[in-house]
Amino acid sequence: MKLRNVVVLLLFVLVVLQLYCKKEENIDMKLLKQDFGSVNGQAVELYTLVNTHGVKVQIATYGGIVTSIQVPDRNGQLADVVLGYDNLDEYVQNNPYFGCIVGRYGNRIAQAEFELDGVSYSLAANNGPNHLHGGLVGFDKVVWSAKPVEGKDKVGVELTYTSNDGEEGYPGNLQVTVTYTLDNENALQIDYYAVTDKKTIVNLTNHSYFNLNDAGAAPILDHQLMINADEFTPVDNTLIPTGELRSVEGTPFDFRKATAIGARIGADDEQLKFGGGYDHNFVVNGQAGELRLAAEVTEPVTGRAMEVWTTEPGIQFYSGNFLDGSITGKNGIVYQQRNGLCLETQHFPDSPNQPEFPSTVLEPGDEYKTTTIYKFKVTE
Ligand code: GLA
Repeated sequence: MKLRNVVVLLLFVLVVLQLYCKKEENIDMKLLKQDFGSVNGQAVELYTLVNTHGVKVQIATYGGIVTSIQVPDRNGQLADVVLGYDNLDEYVQNNPYFGCIVGRYGNRIAQAEFELDGVSYSLAANNGPNHLHGGLVGFDKVVWSAKPVEGKDKVGVELTYTSNDGEEGYPGNLQVTVTYTLDNENALQIDYYAVTDKKTIVNLTNHSYFNLNDAGAAPILDHQLMINADEFTPVDNTLIPTGELRSVEGTPFDFRKATAIGARIGADDEQLKFGGGYDHNFVVNGQAGELRLAAEVTEPVTGRAMEVWTTEPGIQFYSGNFLDGSITGKNGIVYQQRNGLCLETQHFPDSPNQPEFPSTVLEPGDEYKTTTIYKFKVTE
């Protein structure tokens, strides 16, 4: 080939490359809002956040439910990685907490009771003898007010809800703000904020069920999981922590090195029996209040991976043990046991009754502020 031809060819390649890059840059972030039906006469909206890589997150104002998260695999193929339903009515009728905001107190409170300054508060016993995930009508079942958020290189939605004094048995008018933002690093950030006018307890989390391979069609047992925790909080047979912080060393709870979830889930272990698998709070290493890596999940077939960063002291790893094939979700997929996993960042379960655990008490004048990030990436 003549030198001139080579130069012309190179120039052509350069022009094509430039045009391609321009096209990439031109994919703007998007923030859309659409109707998603209504609950008890209250209109519900569905927000769609899209970043420049085409990563798409949808959030309903009912329960603040993350209804879908579409992220690429190692070949750039986008697919939904969370379990859920196709429409609002199904979420309203029967939701095992798919994608929702959980509150006022995420996780369990023993005997559905706690005390503040000598006053005893009774809550709904909606999980055997215990209180679970905020009660009968928790934050997962209310309609939140929404406001779009647009910043440099991020799009989001700010959700607010006021939980009245006495609602579900909790004291104090609690004003809650939960902000979801998606950036161009493929990170979905959740900022939780609350203030109260009377001493109360708060523990907010998100309850997304992830399956990085096939949106919940098959078990998550081959997903590799790393949990950055030297200790976990063992439970009794009703899943209430005993108060002990137990070393994970030499137990099926040692996820400090990435391990397949299925590798030890069937081990002859009392804790796994109580949970029906993993349903335990891990004590995240490092300083609570500071954002640090709490967990990382990698799916070997697709290469999809997710980091979980949090300021919270704990993270509940739930291996979808109660899914039993009775739910048909999005796209007709039947959710069998362990077809999804949850990594719920949180304060430890039953903290209001366990003075040794980091406190979940919120005083008037103080601010409840926590942050959790689910960051998506691919591995080779
Ligand atoms: C949490 C709990 C589980 C279960 C699920 C919802 O992860 O720890 O025991 O209640 O929520 O089914």
